[in-house]
Amino acid sequence: MTDALHTVVVARKAIEAYNMASFELVPADDQPLPGFTPGSHIDLTLPNGLVRQYSLLNSASERNRYCIGVWKDANSRGGSKALHIDINEGDRLQVSRPRNRFKIPKTTTRALLLARGIGVTPMLSIADTLKAKNIPFELHYVFALMSPDSFRATIEASAFAENTIFYKESSEDNQLLKPATVLADRPEDTQLFICGVDWWQDPIIALAKQKGFAEERIHVERFTAKAAAALLDKVFEVKIASTGATFKIPGDKSVTAHLEENGVKIPTSCEQGMCGTCKTRVVEGEVEHRDKRLSPDQRAQGYFLPCVSRAKGDTLVLDL
Ligand code: FES
Repeated sequence: MTDALHTVVVARKAIEAYNMASFELVPADDQPLPGFTPGSHIDLTLPNGLVRQYSLLNSASERNRYCIGVWKDANSRGGSKALHIDINEGDRLQVSRPRNRFKIPKTTTRALLLARGIGVTPMLSIADTLKAKNIPFELHYVFALMSPDSFRATIEASAFAENTIFYKESSEDNQLLKPATVLADRPEDTQLFICGVDWWQDPIIALAKQKGFAEERIHVERFTAKAAAALLDKVFEVKIASTGATFKIPGDKSVTAHLEENGVKIPTSCEQGMCGTCKTRVVEGEVEHRDKRLSPDQRAQGYFLPCVSRAKGDTLVLDL
């Protein structure tokens, strides 16, 4: 899926904490920026040609700016380092239209937000919206060891300061978040949002499931897609049940990408098997699931995410 790019100007660059910077990006012309929903991210194209995804942390009611947080990754392959070192106020950058794979379900009546480090950025926008809608929630935020206090001032000045509990990863008054306590005795309608590095969030997600959170109530934002596609996959055939049309899916293309090129559009958003937008039912054939989203039940009902998943055998017949 291609997006029109928008030119933005860096209106403000601030150091939030050690290794953590924030950027305020405003339109280069007098047109408002495309709107976004809380939890959205943008693709940012850097002058060195690299494209990186960043969550929008400002209020989703704003159309005059996109605000992002950038953690300087010691293993940066050029993205976060370039932003920290080379990009300054007044510089122009290209951004995509915002996309969202971390949406607040419309039916949300109560929420629990857990974040660590840079994972707090999408939560700031989500918390702003929940507060504005008077939806009860708590934001439990663990400062990463290497970036203590990042975004503390933003949160303390916000309407949701009273909903936020801070944790330090290591300090004299060490207050590590205790997932078993935080997740205990939550009402049935609690939607859980979680964002941080995988080693931190995966055990919490597993614990939440043990404690009875249904998959549908657990919303996870990952920094990178875990389901990395092999460079060249097996070729297989996809048949459209309603028309009988068949397509050979090449080894280097996803089902959604190849079908779209051939005029069959399945809606997509993250294209990484994380948001569920492309969910499609398979009526025949065995799926090799590569997503991080579908529940065992949804898989048993025949659903798959064709932006990443493929066929185990030679053919899949899709309910389209
Ligand atoms: S587009 Fe997001 S899961 Fe397929």
